Amino acid sequence: MRISDSADLWWKSAVIYCVDVETFMDSDDDGVGDFAGLAQRIDYLADLGVTCLWLMPFYPSPNRDDGYDITDFYGVDPRLGSLGDLVEVLRACHHRGIRVIADLVVNHTSTEHPWFKESRSSVDNRFRDYYVWRADPPPDTSDAVVFHEEEDSIWNHDPITGHWYLHRFYAHQPDLNMANPKVRDEIAKIIGFWLELGFDGFRVDAVPQLLTVGIHDTIENELGFTDPHGFLRELRTFMGRRRGHSVLLGEVDLMYRHQLELFGGSDGGELDMIFDFPLMQSCYLAMAREDAGPVAGVLKNRPEVPAAVQWATFLRNHDELALDLLTEAERAEVFAAFGPQKKFQVYNRGLKRRLAPMLDGDPARLRLAYSLLFSLPGTPSLYYGEEIGMGEDASLGYRMAVRTPMQWGSAPNGGFSARPASELARPPVKGSFGPRHVNVSAAKRDPASLFNFIRELIRIYREYPEMAWGSFELLEQPVPNVLAHRCSWDGASMIAVHNFAAKPATVTLKLGAEHEGATVRDLLGGPGRDIGDGGALRLRLGPYGFRWLRLASDGGGQGVVPEVQTTYSAKEAEARNTSGKKDKQT
Ligand code: BGC
Repeated sequence: MRISDSADLWWKSAVIYCVDVETFMDSDDDGVGDFAGLAQRIDYLADLGVTCLWLMPFYPSPNRDDGYDITDFYGVDPRLGSLGDLVEVLRACHHRGIRVIADLVVNHTSTEHPWFKESRSSVDNRFRDYYVWRADPPPDTSDAVVFHEEEDSIWNHDPITGHWYLHRFYAHQPDLNMANPKVRDEIAKIIGFWLELGFDGFRVDAVPQLLTVGIHDTIENELGFTDPHGFLRELRTFMGRRRGHSVLLGEVDLMYRHQLELFGGSDGGELDMIFDFPLMQSCYLAMAREDAGPVAGVLKNRPEVPAAVQWATFLRNHDELALDLLTEAERAEVFAAFGPQKKFQVYNRGLKRRLAPMLDGDPARLRLAYSLLFSLPGTPSLYYGEEIGMGEDASLGYRMAVRTPMQWGSAPNGGFSARPASELARPPVKGSFGPRHVNVSAAKRDPASLFNFIRELIRIYREYPEMAWGSFELLEQPVPNVLAHRCSWDGASMIAVHNFAAKPATVTLKLGAEHEGATVRDLLGGPGRDIGDGGALRLRLGPYGFRWLRLASDGGGQGVVPEVQTTYSAKEAEARNTSGKKDKQT
């Protein structure tokens, strides 16, 4: 693979930012965020360095699962604005070189969807087999439900025909029947529609359930959907034909074995990106233990993937902090460290908390966490408000705790809306993480803020191609609290070192005799360092300290990195995105 592919494989060096339109910015003060409000905030995203906006579901919906229960795949929830308002957001983003992906939620519909209304009406309705029905009473499936505090079976009895329908999520979200070729065609049509409108791809909701991969065996056998990978491959090919650069980013909360299958194995050709749930969960265990071991262990097991695909790295998303891939004992350690009170724990597998309060707002630990996020190999993804260290409202039900209004300013509503707090789509956070103390306006003015720190990380991540494109290697060294890794690309390497502990650490990295006498440059502003005898680099890290060091062979051993242009006009940015030269700047 050549760097000239970088313009096509834009997702490999993207910075993803997830927004719930409903809680981001309310332009007409009706209490609900909207597309017009989001359009006003695209400059904010561009300034932060975001290159890919992920929109959570914005379709018409009874809103019983925050929009993940859809009644029309081709429309826009009128509370959020019109299709025209959405297109304005697409245009504003594209103008600034930001791609936009939509949440593709096609594992299920709402029970209010016209297809389901037809399907349930009689056993011989033409939409009957758009869903999965059974006539005989189902066995106990309580261990297969996803929201197991709220549901106890994945089958729901429907009085109209006396049969049961399948729903892996809520009972009001009947699963579509993927074994039915008509349903698969409908999905392609939905994808085609949004691509035609200008979307650059999709975040695919609930991939294991959608494709019945890696979940409950008995259901897999029952469904008769025999070639999920063939279908995914077909979809990918279809998208390539319709819009060559479009991307499929999968939500796959499974171990690497299954993730690899969903990339399409060593040939690729299925999902282009997958959220790295195993790595995310290991980061929390490592932070809880103040020991780098869990992260190193997971990275050692992360499989090689085809060059065109990429992991999406993240610390938080819009759901509960899922810790289901950890052992029970490990999960208990993370619960004890970051959410010991029952009110924070949910579904026996996760925490309904945001990162900043989990770390008690400690700037040193927060910086460590985000330094890690942006330096681990993969495409970093942020959930709105992370960049300012927003908190949660644990009194809100389940996953709503972390879906509170964006905090733009210090007013009680955080500048999200002028509507009284009691009339907002969701109440603003109260207390020390509320808008008075945590908001964009103050963060932008404070040079030492988390916002400005993350902005700088993004700038460096985008400026140097090694982290996004490079080959990855763990650097062995004896201090257990420290993670040292190197990403190398095109004659340069980025060395990142992270100390997970409150105590300082000194490490010696063996970089290879060929580097003896060379200088590494500290990209986060510290002094450069000379590499000593035999290629040894000795570093001292403060409590929760970290370093990003760059070693470039092009400086004649002097570590001189040619200066690069780092800010572009929107026009230039777009031109660079299509010229094939974007990332090759050194
Ligand atoms: C989403 C959830 C949603 C569920 C059902 C997911 O995994 O991330 O927010 O409730 O799918 O659509």
